[in-house]
Amino acid sequence: MSGDIYESFAWEIPRKRHASGKPGEMPETPQHSLRLGVLISGSGSNLQALIDAIENKQLTEVEIALVVSNNANAYGVQRALKHNVPVIYVPWVRLAGAQFTVPQKGEMSESEVKLTALLQLFKVDLIVLAGWMRILSTAFLEQFPRQVINLHPALLPDDGTGHIYTTQDGSQIPVFRGLHAVKQALDAGVKVTGSTVHYVTPEVDAGPVICREEVAIVPGDTEESLHERIKAIEHRLIVEAVRMCKSNI
Ligand code: GRF
Repeated sequence: MSGDIYESFAWEIPRKRHASGKPGEMPETPQHSLRLGVLISGSGSNLQALIDAIENKQLTEVEIALVVSNNANAYGVQRALKHNVPVIYVPWVRLAGAQFTVPQKGEMSESEVKLTALLQLFKVDLIVLAGWMRILSTAFLEQFPRQVINLHPALLPDDGTGHIYTTQDGSQIPVFRGLHAVKQALDAGVKVTGSTVHYVTPEVDAGPVICREEVAIVPGDTEESLHERIKAIEHRLIVEAVRMCKSNI
């Protein structure tokens, strides 16, 4: 399969403009809204936080251009539909033989080629991985430099790399990456964990930090109770991170 069918789209999705001047005044240069592409795999509570912040005008000059889910049954799909946000299911296939080389861009999976075409078609400026459970290839990421951010339910050092994180009280704890980072923190017996929003690089959960917050682990915490408290923080962090990225784009 080639990307040709996607390249043949002739129609354009217009960008929303917003007034940057005083009410009633025409701005000298009309600004475009920042268009988000939100990638989800599950419950989508962080997607909901973004939808709410935009609807409540806590996040201005930002719109969700497209939600992509690799899971047709993800509850986040229903959240998007309920708020009239465009949403599409992209099955994530990595069958032998489904990989092919895109000239000069390295190798992307067939699903990544589809995802790329959709993000470009919908003129996405910033890609937010909000509970997205698939690893994106170097070739895919190279197309969107500093335009892909991820929420990770643990604490990462400032530049994202290394194996030790120094908490606000000066203690040193291991860096928990990959799947089950909440459980990893509980199993390690640390007193504090948290959440981090960071730029995505080819190494998993190892990109430069945009913002993060610590969450105390309390006696009797289970993976579920701790993850719920972390998510409550994440709902604020993801909005803050998008706001910060908007001023840098
Ligand atoms: C979040 O805890 C995020 O840190 C992790 O996946 C979870 C997604 O939750 N990557 P939700 O789907 O937004 O509710």
